[in-house]
Amino acid sequence: MMGVWFEDDPRLAVIGKRLSKVRHVIPVMSSKGGVGKTLISCMLALALSDSGFKVGLLDLDVTNPTAHVVLGVSVGSTLPEEEKGVVPPEVGGVKFMSVAYYSGENPLPLRGWEVENVVREVLAVTIWGELDYLIVDTPPGIRDEALDVIKYFRGCRPAIVTTPSPLTLVSVRRLARVVSESVGCGYLIENMGGSKPSERVSSIAREFGLKYLGTVRFDGSVDSAVGDLGRLKATGMYADVRGVAERLAEDLSG
Ligand SMILES: Nc1ncnc2c1ncn2[C@@H]1O[C@H](COP(=O)(O)OP(=O)(O)OP(=O)(O)O)[C@@H](O)[C@H]1O
Ligand SMILES: [Mg+2]
Repeated sequence: MMGVWFEDDPRLAVIGKRLSKVRHVIPVMSSKGGVGKTLISCMLALALSDSGFKVGLLDLDVTNPTAHVVLGVSVGSTLPEEEKGVVPPEVGGVKFMSVAYYSGENPLPLRGWEVENVVREVLAVTIWGELDYLIVDTPPGIRDEALDVIKYFRGCRPAIVTTPSPLTLVSVRRLARVVSESVGCGYLIENMGGSKPSERVSSIAREFGLKYLGTVRFDGSVDSAVGDLGRLKATGMYADVRGVAERLAEDLSG
């Protein structure tokens, strides 16, 4: 269902095949760093899986992957199984793929084209099979990986993560515009917000035709729960992300 833009790299045809049984791709994005993209990606994947969906999670923060830390996956020693491609290991019911399986905790300092090359390689080798949702964690910014997801996952529904802080909102408006003009639809998730949805955030959603999926509370217990799925799922943050997941699934059920 997901299409790709064809050039002469043979991997591009393979990518289309790899994603052919994936119903919805949700890239989790933000032009701002440290707003909670990785935590929300992991929790969203776990919550959708808990609701009975077939879910994959791809860490596409190529130079600085961290989703495995949130999920408590130790990397660098055993490589995922290979069978004419790479089979993503299951973590908490979610098929999880990350370059960290190969790079471990070593730095992977790459420039623009090199990043796109890794993205193509990962997309070309990973065997997702049938999925209801593929959640894609991305690095901050409106450049390489962020542009690549829009390019390779045609028909995706980006979920932009923001905080209610004015500085973040200035930045997020720019990404909201890119998403609105290039993809035409998507979602906005407010993280580290108050108990009520922020009007400033929901007005950006309205302005750019994005659907506001709600607010996720600031939860001081989340850092100590990182790496432990049981404890992560017991946090207030996870309870709020479950609400976000329900609204997302409801929006895509029609
Ligand atoms: N809802 C929350 N409650 C409390 N702390 C949070 C919450 N969301 C995020 N954080 C804090 O923010 C930190 C950064 O989160 P995370 O790594 O998910 O952000 P990110 O947007 O993926 O960052 P990067 O831009 O570097 O990829 C977390 O380690 C945690 O301390
Ligand atoms: Mg991150």
